[in-house]
Amino acid sequence: MAMDMNIATISLLLLLASTAYVAQSADFDVMSYGAKPDADIAQALTSAWKEACAASGSSKVLIPEGTYKSSSVTLEGPCKGPIEVQLDGTLQAPADPSQIKGDGWVVFLRVEDFTLSGSGTLDGQGATSWKTNNCGPNIDCSLYATSLRLDYITNGVVQGITSKDAKSFHINVFGCKNLTIEHVTVTAPETSHNTDGIHIGRSSGIIVTDTTIGTGDDCISLGDGSQDVTIERVKCGPGHGISIGSLGKYKNEEPVSQIKVLDCTITGTTNGVRIKTWPASVGASTASDITFKGITMDNVANPVIIDQGYCPYGQCKAQIPSTIKISNVVIDDIQGTSATPETVQIICSKGVPCEDVKVSNIDLTYKGSKGTAKTVCENVKPTVTGTQNPPLCPDL
Ligand SMILES: *[C@@H]1O[C@H](CO)[C@@H](O)[C@H](O)[C@H]1NC(C)=O
Repeated sequence: MAMDMNIATISLLLLLASTAYVAQSADFDVMSYGAKPDADIAQALTSAWKEACAASGSSKVLIPEGTYKSSSVTLEGPCKGPIEVQLDGTLQAPADPSQIKGDGWVVFLRVEDFTLSGSGTLDGQGATSWKTNNCGPNIDCSLYATSLRLDYITNGVVQGITSKDAKSFHINVFGCKNLTIEHVTVTAPETSHNTDGIHIGRSSGIIVTDTTIGTGDDCISLGDGSQDVTIERVKCGPGHGISIGSLGKYKNEEPVSQIKVLDCTITGTTNGVRIKTWPASVGASTASDITFKGITMDNVANPVIIDQGYCPYGQCKAQIPSTIKISNVVIDDIQGTSATPETVQIICSKGVPCEDVKVSNIDLTYKGSKGTAKTVCENVKPTVTGTQNPPLCPDL
């Protein structure tokens, strides 16, 4: 009897093991779908994705080492199980921006339990685009395609990959929930226009960590509807720093809240950490519960700046105060060197002054020839504790 039980148990275990095996991860190598080095991989990648996405259990699409060309691809869910794309090769975008349809070059859309991993590179080949994508004073100008769009991803990880020379934004996160971006590298020349490293909008539960970004525009920018976003151990520079906003330019913007920027190093950028809102804003959204803490600045212009009069090229009625309410901002443990005399600037709206701004432990030095280090406060009464070098708005 005991013997029989054992055999039954063993057979059951074997059956379970074999089912588990079938349901386990399966690999879909693009080389088996017709990919060839130096040829356009888009078709093969799309076919591999479709089969992987339709397979039950976990599946993985592999792009092995090598250099491939790729026209635009949209890899869409929902998928039957968790799905991973392991990019070990380099994908090159067409250099001519008119050859990319839509607003993204490599787009992941509506995927749950998603991983993009590998040591590979998305090369946007943006050099020719940068000459013509400088919107400058043109307020309604549309940008070229973003290199990597992550649209409506739920429970995802992007790790290890590099984004190089995007035509405009490198990585755009939109409508995502619970997405971690880690150990990613973003690189483009300081002179490239509109090449934001990572832009996040209308998303929650987003973590960007242990990531290195050097580019021609914001390293990271957070648009409206960014909620519960943590940016930690990011190295930024060159570029325009880590920025919340600009907010208040468009109708129906959603609030920005629970943003943490922690333990970052910012080098040689035109701003450090920033919140910017447009004067004469449309709508009355808010930016609240924002922490900038443990930031090292190395030769950064405007290391800490809240600017509610953001109006480049005179594109707005600058005399009408911004209607975006900023509240509960913690600025703590910021140290290093400033490239301008203005170290901490808190320029709030006359219409809706900032509330609950706490500034502590600031040590920023300026060694240039344009005067001594100073701070600016408008329409705000910050709570000040700890070291303040230079003193924070002593006349307040
Ligand atoms: C968030 O996403 C990760 C990665 O897919 C997953 O492991 C984790 O369980 C998710 N967390 C929640 C609360 O769903």
